Amino acid sequence: MPHCVHSWSYRDPFSVATADQVKALIRSHADGDESRFYAVAIQVAAQAARSGHGKFSQELRELVDQVKARAKAFEPARGPKPVPLAQPRGELPGLLTACYPKTRLADMALPNLLSSRLERVLTEQRERGRLREHGFSPIRKLLLVGPPGTGKTMTASALAGELGLPLFSIQLDGLITKYMGETAAKLRLVFDAIQSTRGVYLFDEFDALGVERSSTNDVGEIRRVLNSFLQFLEQDDSDSIVLGATNHVGLLDRALFRRFDAVLEYSLPSEEVATHVMRGRLALLDTSNIEWPAAAKAADGLSHAEISMACEQAAKNAILDHTTAVRASGLVTALKERHCTHA
Ligand SMILES: Nc1ncnc2c1ncn2[C@@H]1O[C@H](COP(=O)(O)OP(=O)(O)O)[C@@H](O)[C@H]1O
Ligand SMILES: [Mg+2]
Repeated sequence: MPHCVHSWSYRDPFSVATADQVKALIRSHADGDESRFYAVAIQVAAQAARSGHGKFSQELRELVDQVKARAKAFEPARGPKPVPLAQPRGELPGLLTACYPKTRLADMALPNLLSSRLERVLTEQRERGRLREHGFSPIRKLLLVGPPGTGKTMTASALAGELGLPLFSIQLDGLITKYMGETAAKLRLVFDAIQSTRGVYLFDEFDALGVERSSTNDVGEIRRVLNSFLQFLEQDDSDSIVLGATNHVGLLDRALFRRFDAVLEYSLPSEEVATHVMRGRLALLDTSNIEWPAAAKAADGLSHAEISMACEQAAKNAILDHTTAVRASGLVTALKERHCTHA
């Protein structure tokens, strides 16, 4: 039959790419991260070759080479992309650090309730013009509460990344000075910036202040900082997103809670979320040997950050062993080692 001449000479090319690889391809394209894009494509090619799709693998490699060569030819004309970073001026540099994160919400493994609440924040931010036209304000003051390594700081990056806004992190330590009265003046500078430059402003680790400074003078000063903070927060009607993050909710004044539009609670990952963290972190490698339920059990009690570090360890071991296949036992061992350091 003549129309059969052009039929597929390999069976199902999509069975050689995992869902995670397809997602990694799309995400790296969206981020303009070319080297990651090529790395994932080559991974897919390698996996295709291993699973007997030699022709597809060869074609994919050739395609990557062609595209790379073409990109190189245009390089001088395109040049490096400028990064329009809003740099803090005046006294602000000592109080704020600024960056433009590329993190996306999809990079995070979160329970459904939390991710839908964050999605809701994004929707209200994207539609804030329409909400304001009808006299409503979008959610924009959030308190993030939960144990270390569960994604509070990462959430600030993801919100900034999704909305294309700069992320300003406020060093609360820099705000506490020995001189009375100065703290409020410095907070005023920060809140002026919040008003004048739309961005995501993260007041990170409030609790570090409460735990580490225990002399009476310092406690008094912390109270003053928190009180001024609450006043400024209450008055703030800017378009910026203001985030507070803390590991120890018990140390915070309950009055703080009321000043935020929402309190988001972070917790150690369930088995399902832990598996999501591991799959995401190992997406560029061959994980066909991994028994996910066993790995998730070994991850029980660890934070997202600890699981992520264990995955890195297992991935590096595989690469140093000249393979892209992560060993199931290697991953479980790395997770168990994290339990030992976790105290
Ligand atoms: N929910 C999550 N999903 C995926 N990775 C996470 C998550 N939470 C933390 N991580 C990993 O751990 C690192 C540290 O997390 P971080 O956001 O700083 O924790 P926290 O601020 O809650 O202490 C992150 O950069 C990321 O690699
Ligand atoms: Mg943090």
